[in-house]
Amino acid sequence: MSAQIFNTSEVQEFLRLATGLDQDGGSPRTKKIVHRILSDLFKAIEDLDVTPDEYWAGIAYLNQLGARGEAGLLSPGLGLDRYFDMRMDAQDAVLGVENGTPRTIEGPLYVAGAPVEKGFARLDDGSDKAGHTLVMHGTVYGANGKPAPNATVEVWHANTKGFYSHFDPTGEQQPFNMRRTIVTDAQGRYKFQSIVPVGYGCPPDGPTQALLNQLGRHGNRPAHIHLFVTADGHRKLTTQINIDGDPLVFDDFAYATREGLVPPLVERTDAASIQANGLAGPFAEIVFDIRLSALVQGVDNQIVDRPRLAA
Ligand SMILES: [Fe+2]
Repeated sequence: MSAQIFNTSEVQEFLRLATGLDQDGGSPRTKKIVHRILSDLFKAIEDLDVTPDEYWAGIAYLNQLGARGEAGLLSPGLGLDRYFDMRMDAQDAVLGVENGTPRTIEGPLYVAGAPVEKGFARLDDGSDKAGHTLVMHGTVYGANGKPAPNATVEVWHANTKGFYSHFDPTGEQQPFNMRRTIVTDAQGRYKFQSIVPVGYGCPPDGPTQALLNQLGRHGNRPAHIHLFVTADGHRKLTTQINIDGDPLVFDDFAYATREGLVPPLVERTDAASIQANGLAGPFAEIVFDIRLSALVQGVDNQIVDRPRLAA
C-alpha cells in the first residue's frame, strides 16, 4: 500500500505551479486543460500505484508514437475520434438537429487539393491490377429534401494493398490516386469509377499495434471509402461507407461503422450494365445517397479544423 499524497495541499499547490496557474502569462484555456489532465494523471498514478518503470515505459512509448507519426492512428484506435462524434450527435439531439446521413470519423489520411471533376470522376489510374472495378453513385440531398446541385463530394480510399496515395510505403501510387473532388450535377448527382478498396491494419511493428496487443485487441479496419460532403447553406458532412460483406464491418478497430453507412454492394455481370457504364467487364456497384443537414443559426456549428496534409 502506497502513501496517499494527491489530496495534500503540497501536491495541489504543486499542480498549480506546474501548470502556470500562478502566472499571468500564457493561455488560460491551455492552463485549464493541462491542469485537469495533469491532475487526473497524478491521481491515476497514485490510485493505480503506477511504478516508475511503468511510467518511463509510457514516456518511451510517446516518443515512439511521435517518431512513427502514429498519434492520429492511436486516437481512433482508443475510440477518441468516435467519442467526439458521439458528443456531436448528443449536441445535435439537444438542438433537435437531424443528420440524414450519419457522420463518422475522418481518420488521419485525407489530403487536400485533389483534382476536381463535375458529375463524374475516375479515381484510380488503372495501375492496381488486382483491383475489381467499382462504380459508386448517388444523389446529394439538401436539408429541404431536394437534390443539391453543385455540392462537393470529396472521396478518398485505399488500394488493394490497403495503402493510400501520399501515405504509401511502397511508393507505388501517384499523387492523388484514388482521391477526387466531385461536384454534383444539376440533379445533385455524383458518380465515380474506381476499384473496390480492401481493409487495412495498423503497421504491425508500430506503437499503435503494440498497445492494442497489450489490450488484447486487433488493429484492423474493414474496407471503406471516406467522404467529405459540402454544399451551400449546409454543414459539412464527414463520413465513410463500409464495403458490404467485409468480415470486419462491425468489428472495426477505429469504431467508424454505423448503421446507414453499409450500403449494399451489387455485382453487375450483365452486358447492359457493363455497356451502360462504358466498362469492359463485370463490376461492383454501390448506390449511396447523401442527406445533408442545414446550418445552425447560419453557421456550421460542428466544423472541425484540424491539421491536414495538402498537396
Ligand atoms: Fe481509411
